[in-house]
Amino acid sequence: MANPVTDIYRLTKAGLTLTYYGVALFPPHLPTPWPVRLLRVLLFPFKMIGFVLRAPFGAKTTSERLVTALTKLGPSYIKLGQFLATRPDIIGDELASNLSPLQDNLPPFPQDVAIEEIERQLGKPINELFVDFSEPIAAASIAQVHKATIMDHGQKRHVAVKVLRPDIEQRFENDQAAYRFAAKMVERFSKPARRLKPVDVVKTLDRTVTIELDLRLEAAAISELAQNTANDKNVRTPLVEWSCTTQRVLTTEWIDATPIGEIETLKRQGHDLTKLGTHVLQSFLQQAMRDGFFHADMHPGNLMVDASGNLVMLDCGIMGRLSARERRFLAEILHGFVTGDYAQAAQAHFEAGYVPAHYSVDEFAQGLRAIGEPIADKPASEISMARFLGQLLEYTAVYDMETRPELILLQKNLVIAEGVARSLNSDLNLWRVAEPVVKEWLADELGPAAKMAKMGAGLRAIDHFLDGLPSHLKHLEQDLDGLAKLSRGLQTMDETAIANLLSGKSSTGFSTRMALWIGAISLAILAINQLF
Ligand SMILES: Nc1ncnc2c1ncn2[C@@H]1O[C@H](COP(=O)(O)OP(=O)(O)O)[C@@H](O)[C@H]1O
Ligand SMILES: [Mg+2]
Repeated sequence: MANPVTDIYRLTKAGLTLTYYGVALFPPHLPTPWPVRLLRVLLFPFKMIGFVLRAPFGAKTTSERLVTALTKLGPSYIKLGQFLATRPDIIGDELASNLSPLQDNLPPFPQDVAIEEIERQLGKPINELFVDFSEPIAAASIAQVHKATIMDHGQKRHVAVKVLRPDIEQRFENDQAAYRFAAKMVERFSKPARRLKPVDVVKTLDRTVTIELDLRLEAAAISELAQNTANDKNVRTPLVEWSCTTQRVLTTEWIDATPIGEIETLKRQGHDLTKLGTHVLQSFLQQAMRDGFFHADMHPGNLMVDASGNLVMLDCGIMGRLSARERRFLAEILHGFVTGDYAQAAQAHFEAGYVPAHYSVDEFAQGLRAIGEPIADKPASEISMARFLGQLLEYTAVYDMETRPELILLQKNLVIAEGVARSLNSDLNLWRVAEPVVKEWLADELGPAAKMAKMGAGLRAIDHFLDGLPSHLKHLEQDLDGLAKLSRGLQTMDETAIANLLSGKSSTGFSTRMALWIGAISLAILAINQLF
């Protein structure tokens, strides 16, 4: 049941923990409104205690302190932190990058607790279920994993058994209730923050967590991914042991493989790292574009390489879905950029309803041209698709575009997939690698009618895409570094467009974030009033 007092209590505890670890409640470079100044005074003694007690452990960076504070606050704050790290559109770039090292590692819970839970869930004593059962081999905020062996028709088979932490559902429910309360307050008291839809953002987090807390859904995601990628060479997902899977226990085929981060071991085993990098990126793009269902947690901890050189994808707790409409939109955009048809790319935004109709399509197209055209020559290997998509999302945010969590999730995971691919071979030409997948996607997505209409230009464009991609898009990597820099290339742009770009940037960057902070701070003051 909703209970504002316990919500406020929980938020206050979180606020005090952050203060103790010296994490600023308000970005220092922004003007300080009076409630913040008051709060600073109130919290000053606490900050000092934190400073003195933390001192022996050495001065740490803001990022390290933030990560420590969230880890101390527990599983749901780790998840919140990881979630927000993927949403710089809400919390700003600096905070997002400070959050990005947040690892999902926690000490394991005791073996007997895990065994008891598995027995309760699967309805049999552990030695009837497995012929052996290891100590935990990995532990994260939600669950831990054990290696076990089952006897199947006289044959031994190794399995991975993932089991949820005790009481994790209740802990999440309590903290999520507090987040919901905070989001509602922010929406009520701050008009500019409403566009960022904090209540919806918390709902998205809620949904992600609900899925992660039901391991049957993770099992279903593994099986859907396996089905989608069944004909893809060189990728592999573990088979689900449905008979040993419940809401709190997930059992999958054990795959003997090397973590993808262990580059030296992979080299020693004779794997072709360039090929592996290619598989990572191609598989990600295929999932996103062709299937519209992609692994959205493709960090190196969840990727391995088996003896045959297959890319093994584990941990389908977080998946992203792109609707046909969103994939079509991406296809149109990319097609527009590749052919230099910015009007088409702009039109796609309006048709998809992503940009409010009262804006001018031509003006919008001009902005897209500003991303595509003023571009310097760079080696293709330095071009990042993720950056391109990031710049596009950044630009479109200026036009009151509603936040589109799926596209942001896609972009963030593209950054990660590119990072993993580059760690395997830093010279990998990402556009070349992506080319066959994107070409197929464009051909499919633009559909027979569109293909007929665009027969000349369209097919040429696809060819051009093959040959000309690096030459046309190579500019995209140029470090525009935000919209202010971008505007320098816009001499030909009309004034309204420039004004939209610049004022839009400052309003999303400053006043909305400011409003969020004010909302949060009002909450904290309320909380302190309750406590003292
Ligand atoms: N089927 C499997 N085969 C081999 N190792 C596995 C398997 N499933 C999990 N693991 C190991 O356990 C670790 C944690 O599993 P994962 O599913 O990623 O859990 P979490 O959601 O806690 O991150 C993986 O990084 C991997 O080392
Ligand atoms: Mg994992």
